[in-house]
Amino acid sequence: MLTDEKFVIKGLGGQKKLKGKISTPGAKNAVLKVLAASLLFSDEVTLTNVPEIEDVKRMLELLEDLGVVVEKKAAETYRLITKDILTYEISTTISKHLRSSIVLTGPLLGRLGRVTFPHPGGCVIGKRPIDFFIDSFKALGAEIKDTGAGYDIKVNKKLTGTEIFFKNISVTATENFMMAGVLASGTTVLKNVALEPEIISLGEFLNECGAKISGLGTSEITIIGGGLLSGKNKVYSTIPDRIAAGSFIILGALAGEKMEVTNCEPKHLESLLFLLKSAGIKLEVKKNSVIVYGAESKPQAVDIKTHEYPGFPTDLQAPMAVLLTQSSGQSFIFETIFEGRLNYLETFFRMEADVKIIDAHRAFISGPNKLIGKDMTSPDLRAGLAYILAGVIAKGESVVHNVYYVDRGYENIEKHLQNLGVDIKRV
Ligand code: EPZ
Repeated sequence: MLTDEKFVIKGLGGQKKLKGKISTPGAKNAVLKVLAASLLFSDEVTLTNVPEIEDVKRMLELLEDLGVVVEKKAAETYRLITKDILTYEISTTISKHLRSSIVLTGPLLGRLGRVTFPHPGGCVIGKRPIDFFIDSFKALGAEIKDTGAGYDIKVNKKLTGTEIFFKNISVTATENFMMAGVLASGTTVLKNVALEPEIISLGEFLNECGAKISGLGTSEITIIGGGLLSGKNKVYSTIPDRIAAGSFIILGALAGEKMEVTNCEPKHLESLLFLLKSAGIKLEVKKNSVIVYGAESKPQAVDIKTHEYPGFPTDLQAPMAVLLTQSSGQSFIFETIFEGRLNYLETFFRMEADVKIIDAHRAFISGPNKLIGKDMTSPDLRAGLAYILAGVIAKGESVVHNVYYVDRGYENIEKHLQNLGVDIKRV
C-alpha cells in the first residue's frame, strides 16, 4: 500500500515539446459507486472500462470481504456475483484507505437492515464530515449508534422512503441515498442534489436494471422503492474520467507542442475548456478528444472559482494552478468546496512560483515564473498530479513522494507520460 516509491522527473525547463496521444481512463468517481451499487443486485453485475487504480482494488477488496465474488473477465472487465452478502460489517482496515467506501452504507443498510463502519478518515483536503449521511439515515427510519470506533446503523424491516433536503450539495451523499432509495419501501425524494455526470451515469444504469429513478441531472431526484435489481446480461461501461482528461489537457497547455487527449467526453469538461480558451490556450475540440497546441499558446491569467458541477471542478483546481504560475498577470483562486485544498501551494512557493495564500479558501498566483525542480510529497491524489505537472515543466530534477496517492486515481501515469516524451521514472 503506502510504499516509499517515488517519481523522479527531469523537467523541460519551460520547453513545450510533448507530442502524441494520451487516452482517458474510465472515471474513478463513477466506477467506485457502480461497484458499491452491486450490493443492490440479487444476482450479478458486469463492468467494463474499469481503470486499474488503487481505489478500485480497495473497493473490490471491501466487496469480497462482504461476500461478493469478484471475477476478472479481461483487462478492465469485472463480473461481480452478489447472491450472498455475508456480513453487514465494512472492513475498517481497508475502508480507512478509501474515503468513498461511505457509499457502501446505503446499499448495505437497504439490503441487510444493518451496517457498521468506522468513522471515515478525513484527509488533507478537509475534515469531510458525514453529518448528511447520519441525518438522512435517521430520516429513513434507521437507528444510529456511535460505538466510538465507528457507527452501527440498524433498521427493522426496510428503510421507509421520505423527503430529504441536503443542506449542502454533496456528491457521495446524493449517490448513497439514491441507492438506499432503491431498496426502501415507498418513495424517496432527494432535494438539492449534486448534478455530476457520474451520478447520472449511475442512476441510468440502475434504471436499466429495474430501478425507478427520475429527475437525474436536476436538483431533485425521486426514487420509487422496490426489490433487489438484476444485472443478468447487463454491462456497465464506465464513462471517461473527466478529471484525468482535464489534467492531461492542462499538461498539453503547459508543455505540449501538440497533444491529443483521446477517449474523453468534452461535454463533461465545458467549464475547463471555457477557462482555457479565455486564458488564450489553442484547443481543437472533437467528438471524443481534445487537441491542445501548447507551443502556440501564451497563457493569460484567469480567475478560478471552484463550484459544484457544471462549475469548475475542485479536483482540477491544483492542476490548473500549475498553469496559472506560467500565465501572464495575477490570477485569483477561490476554492469554495473544501477548506483544506490550497495547502499544496506552499510547495509551488518553494519552486519559486509567485503564490500568496490569503486564507483557507483563497489565494493569488502571479506569473509567468520559471519553476525550479524540488523534492515534493503529495498530500492527496489531485495535488500529487499537480506536483508531477510542475516537475515536468520545472528546470532541473524533481522528486514526487507518496506515489500511492497518485496511483489511487491515475493508472500507470508514468507510462502514459513517457509516451508523450516526459522523462519520468518510478523508483
Ligand atoms: C466527491 O467527494 C468526490 N469523491 C471528490 O473527489 C470531489 O472532490 C467531491 O465530490 C466534490 O466534487 C468521490 O466521488 C469518491 P462532497 P465527496 O460530499 O462526495 C461537505 C477525488 O480526488 N459535506 O460533494 O466526499 C464536504 O465536507 C475526490 O476524486 C458535509 O459537510 O464530496 C464538502 O465541503 C476528492 N457533510 C462539501 O460538502 C456531509 O455529510 C462537498 O463534499 C458530506 C459532505
